[in-house]
Amino acid sequence: MKRGNGIMTVKDLQDYKSVWREPLIGNYRGYKIITICPPSSGGVTLLQLLKMTENYPLKVIGFHTPQSIHLMTEEERRAFADRAEFLGDPDFVSIPVRKLLDAKYLTDRMKSFNTEKASLSREIGHGFPESYQSEQTTHYSVVDSMGNAVSTTTTLNNSFGNSIVVAGAGFLLNNQMDDFSVKPGFPNLYGLVGGEANSIQPGKRMLSSMTPTIIEKEGKLFLVVGSPGGSTIATTVFQVIVNILDFGMNVQEAVNAGRFHHQWLPDYISYEKKSIDSTTLKKLESYGHTLKVRNSIGLVNAIQILPDGKKDGGADPRGYNSASGF
Ligand code: DON
Repeated sequence: MKRGNGIMTVKDLQDYKSVWREPLIGNYRGYKIITICPPSSGGVTLLQLLKMTENYPLKVIGFHTPQSIHLMTEEERRAFADRAEFLGDPDFVSIPVRKLLDAKYLTDRMKSFNTEKASLSREIGHGFPESYQSEQTTHYSVVDSMGNAVSTTTTLNNSFGNSIVVAGAGFLLNNQMDDFSVKPGFPNLYGLVGGEANSIQPGKRMLSSMTPTIIEKEGKLFLVVGSPGGSTIATTVFQVIVNILDFGMNVQEAVNAGRFHHQWLPDYISYEKKSIDSTTLKKLESYGHTLKVRNSIGLVNAIQILPDGKKDGGADPRGYNSASGF
C-alpha cells in the first residue's frame, strides 16, 4: 500500500471483520430463491426483477423477442433506479428491503410500462417504497375495528409550502396565506377569487377548500373520503360521493372515474383527459360551456363500509395511494 501511495493502513485491515448475514429469500413462480443480502445490491435487484417478471407470461412472449427484451429492459431500468436511491451498506443506511420486494410495490413500478415504447430513465426515477409524504396536500382516511373513523386533510398549500426550511428545525413553512383573498377579484394560486368575507385581517383564518368528510347511513358509518387538489377538492369529493350514491359504483370505481371541475371563475369546465367522450364534449359546447383539458384532478383516499361490515378501500390511481388493512 505504502509503495503504491495508498492510504490504507495495517489497522484498517485489522479492523475489518467479516460479518455473517441472513440471505434474502424470495419466490419466483413457485421456486424458492435464496440469494445475497445488502451490502451487495445483487439479491435485492434480482428479486425485484423476478417479481416484476412474474406478472408477465415470459415463456409466451418468447426468448429474445423484441417484446421480451423490451420488458426485461424496462424492469431493469426501474430496479436500477431503486438501487441508486435506496441501496448501500445496511450498517450505515436503513434500506426498506421488505417494501422494495413487495409484490404490489413492484407491480405498481411497472404501471408506467408501455409495451411498445421505451421509457426515459430521467422520467422514471426511483419508486416510493416507504410511506410517501406529499410535498403539498395529503388526505388519509382511517377506520378502526370498532368503527371509529378519521378523515384528515393536511396541507402546506403549494409544493413545499413557501420553500423556506426553518434553520435547525428541519421543517418547511407553509404558504397557506395564499388562501386569503388578497384583494377583490384577484385570483390565488388555484384561480379562486374572493371578496371581503375572506380578506386578510388580524387573527382571521384563511378560507381553505379542504373537505375531509364522513358519511353515515341510518346512524352507521358508510363512507370516509377526502382529497388534496386546492380548489378542486370539494368538487372531487362531491363527484366520488355521487358516483357511489347515485351512479352505483363501488368505492374504487368511484375514485377511478374521470373528474371535471368548475369554480365559477375562471368560467370554464376543466376536465381530465379522456374523462368525457367527444360527443358529450360537443353537446356541452352547444350548451355554451367552455371546456379545457387538464392533467388530473384530486387524489382521493376513501373507505366504504359494506352492508356486511367489511371495509372497501378506494385508493386513487392518479398517485402513489394505497389501501391497506391491518
Ligand atoms: O387549504 C386549501 O384549500 C389549500 N391550501 C389546499 C392546497 C392543495 O390542496 C394543494 N394540493 N394539491
